[in-house]
Amino acid sequence: MPLFYRWTTVILPCLVAALLAGSGCEKQSTAPKKSAPKYQPITAPLDPFAVNQRLAKSVNFGNALEAPNEGEWGLTLEARYFQLLDEAGFSGIRLPVRWSTHAQNASPYTISPAFFDRIDWAVEQALDRGMAIVINMHHYEEIFTDPPSHKERFLGMWRQIAEHYKEYPADLLFEPLNEPNTNLTSPLWNQYLAEVIAVIRESNPYRTIVIGPVDWNSYASLNKLVLPAGENNLIITFHYYNPFHFTHQGASWASGSDAWLGTTWGSAADMTTLQNELEVARNWARTNNRPLFMGEFGAFNKADMNSRKLWTEAVARQAENRAMSWGYWEFGSGFAIYNLSKNEWYLPLLKALIP
Ligand code: BGC
Repeated sequence: MPLFYRWTTVILPCLVAALLAGSGCEKQSTAPKKSAPKYQPITAPLDPFAVNQRLAKSVNFGNALEAPNEGEWGLTLEARYFQLLDEAGFSGIRLPVRWSTHAQNASPYTISPAFFDRIDWAVEQALDRGMAIVINMHHYEEIFTDPPSHKERFLGMWRQIAEHYKEYPADLLFEPLNEPNTNLTSPLWNQYLAEVIAVIRESNPYRTIVIGPVDWNSYASLNKLVLPAGENNLIITFHYYNPFHFTHQGASWASGSDAWLGTTWGSAADMTTLQNELEVARNWARTNNRPLFMGEFGAFNKADMNSRKLWTEAVARQAENRAMSWGYWEFGSGFAIYNLSKNEWYLPLLKALIP
């Protein structure tokens, strides 16, 4: 800026104003500006069937934020991973989150602000690219062992999470608990799920909530779910890893799984079983008029790639044919569709998901 211009347009008026009003020049240049909100909050009821389409082709960022601390299981999220999924044509992300190692043990169970910042970052990586994202509560193992001792903490964490994200748009979904199992039996879970939905509804009357059945979200336990009457804004989820001896061969956390190494998939009988099992899920959904999200499915990297490709393709297509959205397990670890060390897709798996 030329000196004369600056003197007449900036410095002189500033001095005059300061003399007249006793104010400093800096005050004039920092008049408060109202910034537009980043997202549009949800202001009207949603159709969960329409929301479910936003999750049509999703991927789980497993082994990152549900490790006790991010990075401890070998994966730290980066913006480019979201970019890769977006460019490959995926519509959504399921973000497994272990809140329980980042919250106080005693009431009010305060969640660490730094952890919230990290989850905000991940959520916004998805939303800013136009992708939907489900945040869940993953690996809250204590509640599966001793449900009554952890119920208040479970609800207390959700009260905070719901409040924190209440202004976020409809493309953010909440999934209160991954794979209820063991002592969190179906009578208890039906009670807890009603309570956690009520807690979320205090601050998020219109957000879509994802709920799955007991027995590790088994499709065969959908019929054990009792959902709160009048609560329509739900997507029901189940996980599909059948045949388990194929998908979990050689997986260290599945006991005896070394004996299953070499199991292949792809016979006509395999296909019939798959269709029959997904049909059970579809029938439940039709009878109960609920949208279905197959929130996890995948085959571990110890199975042969050809069988993994055939299985992944078949499961994805059979789910799509039954109007189910899906979330592949997972992006970059043992079930990976992306090879992080080589920075390239496992193309047979990517093509199986997005032909
Ligand atoms: C578990 C993971 C596991 C995957 C497949 C998920 O729900 O949280 O730890 O790798 O299922 O077994």
